[in-house]
Amino acid sequence: MVHIPVRGELPARLGPSVQAVPGYGPSVMDARVYRDPTRYELERERVLGRHWMLAGRSTQVKDSGDWITYEGHDECIVVVRQSDDSLAAFHNVCRHRGPAIIAEKTGCGARRFSCPYHGWVYDTKGKLVGIPEREDFGPDHVNDIGAIEVAVGEWGGWVWINLAGPDKAVPLMESIGSEISMDLGAFKMEEMILHEVLEWDVPINYKTIVDGFNEIYHVTQLHHSPPEFTKATRSASFHVTGDNFMCFVPRPQSLDELNSDDYDHHRNSICHYVVFPNTIFNCNPEHIQVFQPIPLGVDRTKFLCWQIIYPGDQDDPEYAEYFKRTMLHWDALKGVVGEDIGVYDQMTRTKKSSAFNEQILSEREFKIAIYHQHMDRKIRD
Ligand code: FES
Ligand SMILES: [Fe+2]
Repeated sequence: MVHIPVRGELPARLGPSVQAVPGYGPSVMDARVYRDPTRYELERERVLGRHWMLAGRSTQVKDSGDWITYEGHDECIVVVRQSDDSLAAFHNVCRHRGPAIIAEKTGCGARRFSCPYHGWVYDTKGKLVGIPEREDFGPDHVNDIGAIEVAVGEWGGWVWINLAGPDKAVPLMESIGSEISMDLGAFKMEEMILHEVLEWDVPINYKTIVDGFNEIYHVTQLHHSPPEFTKATRSASFHVTGDNFMCFVPRPQSLDELNSDDYDHHRNSICHYVVFPNTIFNCNPEHIQVFQPIPLGVDRTKFLCWQIIYPGDQDDPEYAEYFKRTMLHWDALKGVVGEDIGVYDQMTRTKKSSAFNEQILSEREFKIAIYHQHMDRKIRD
């Protein structure tokens, strides 16, 4: 039996007691935030450099000495499993003269890493433990140094990193917040397995991609959703929780049950969570897509789509049926993501146009406005 997430004692997210659309109202916002290089540098420092982002699945660094690499916004980070099962993360940047210490993006069983240039040796926590011809360096320069540390944590079977470092990073669970950790926690992602990762190189700003997941207005036109789905989206609920967002879209076949406060959004709706600044969980009851737009520049983004599923035995007819059903849906969703990519092509053509200086948001697109307000506040602080 695969895990079936249920609402249980969790608060209602849809139904008569829930305000579906908070009263932020429609708005207009500056569209130059997607192309301003000065602003991008501020975001690199104050947003991407200070918030928790995904580096991969915990199972990708299962055993001691296994490592994965995170590369984005001109940073190069390595995450290594330690012998006590904890994780360490550090900038993959040699303290001598700066090249990447570790050439391979992933690997296993490492005990030491040697820089390819002059052979400085680092342990799996990034501490500098060996220097050829050390006597030629002043002791004050090389004592007790190591690769610069990055904060690392695990939740939901995901490895999260925060470039602020272990001393300055806000605790991971504080950033995810109790509402999302409980609601999304019901899916038990830590028990799920990675089925596939899709990757695109998209020549637009990463926030444009986040925006596309902060509204459902586009599904009728762009994704040709049937009228009953469009009708269901009109009953969706939107929630702001700290820096983050939740959205619940009832399935068309469950609309009649919406007049009850017992409505189980886990069983009957698509549950959608955005963890600031760029982690998006799209939860169907039986499988989850995680969308991760990783900025590579002010107008270039590596866009990853992770598909995770519940594990099981293909010889078990019930699991085989689950797998078949899930794969059919996943195949359809790949087409949907392809349509999103298609519209990014059109946004690429106009991203620097003199005619694109503001955008007009409906009251159901308010999450976009709030997301950019969070961004504004963080680059000011
Ligand atoms: S640059 Fe790494 S050892 Fe010299
Ligand atoms: Fe879409």
